[in-house]
Amino acid sequence: MSLQLFLDSLDQLLVDAQQRLAAVTSTESLEEARVEFLGAKNGKMKGAQKAMGTIAGEEKPIAGKKFNDIRTALQAAFDEAQANIGGVSASSKGPLLDPTLPGLRPALGHLHPLTQTMEHLKEIMGRLGFSVTEGPEVEDTWHNFVALNIPEDHPARDPLDNFYLATASKTAAKQSSPMEHDAALLRSQTSTVQIRVMEGTKPPLRIISLGRVYRPDGADATHFPMFHQMEGLWVDRAVTMAQLKSVLRLFATNYLGGDVEIRFRPSFFPFTEPSVEVDFLWNGNWIEFGGAGMVDPNVLNAVGYDSSQYTGFAFGLGIERLCMRRFGITDIRDLYRNDVRFLRQF
Ligand code: FA5
Repeated sequence: MSLQLFLDSLDQLLVDAQQRLAAVTSTESLEEARVEFLGAKNGKMKGAQKAMGTIAGEEKPIAGKKFNDIRTALQAAFDEAQANIGGVSASSKGPLLDPTLPGLRPALGHLHPLTQTMEHLKEIMGRLGFSVTEGPEVEDTWHNFVALNIPEDHPARDPLDNFYLATASKTAAKQSSPMEHDAALLRSQTSTVQIRVMEGTKPPLRIISLGRVYRPDGADATHFPMFHQMEGLWVDRAVTMAQLKSVLRLFATNYLGGDVEIRFRPSFFPFTEPSVEVDFLWNGNWIEFGGAGMVDPNVLNAVGYDSSQYTGFAFGLGIERLCMRRFGITDIRDLYRNDVRFLRQF
């Protein structure tokens, strides 16, 4: 083919395409025009590309330039036609919008069963007049032990039963010693918050505090090295053990249902006297879900309260065990496997 013929045929092709596009009114007719002119197999531009092969070698650059110019003009004409019928141009990056297609439902997550449990516990205790407080997870021995009437030689302070931390003031290699008053450790119980709240608030007070605690316990169906507790503390003039039992019973029936069976067992905690442990019945077994008792006068004195004027009760409940009982979860480790198929059930 001669060069002139080739150039003329390209001009004609553009004129034909523009006429064709002027008549386009729908996406269907636009698509037909696109296949006719720009189709990868039998489109007219494809034909022109093949014809370019017959142009003499030294004239090829002129033919190639014209071909590219026409292709660019053609694409612009198609984009304009597409915009005219309200579509999105093929050369723009965005996807074609078809408002008639059914929508895609967004995948919604939901709260972890433990978070749900904590919200529920706060709601129940709120109705009983307890307000929510927080305390730090990295503690010192004063709040974790000393103020809680746990003496230096008490086995609860053993490094084997606690996560002591190497702090910035000590060399990385040297861990805090349990005998140092400023030793840092991950709190082993939320009872630390009792001390922090009493140090900063005058009685009366009625608070709960929910959060993580850490113990080097081996993991099994009912134990995990990191778990959550809900601490409760009520201090006022003439708070009694009868009130403690009523509050825990009310809490248990509200959370686990009116038919739940709970029992109180005499126990020992250095910071309460008398002390009890609280169990619920589940599948024929008594499961311990918390410890409680009347705040020891030594603890009230340690935070500057007058123990001749004020009494109080405190409790610390295992949140995982409450969550498991309510949702029928039989292994605490399932709460921490992050298996979405499991968690989706709750
Ligand atoms: C305490 O931690 C006391 N601070 C509770 C307390 C508070 C007593 C205030 C008196 C006054 P205990 O070590 O028993 O007590 O733990 C309380 C609850 O935490 C247990 O009943 C159990 O439900 C839960 N718990 C204890 N260890 C683990 C563990 N490794 N994994 C999961 N839950 C645990």
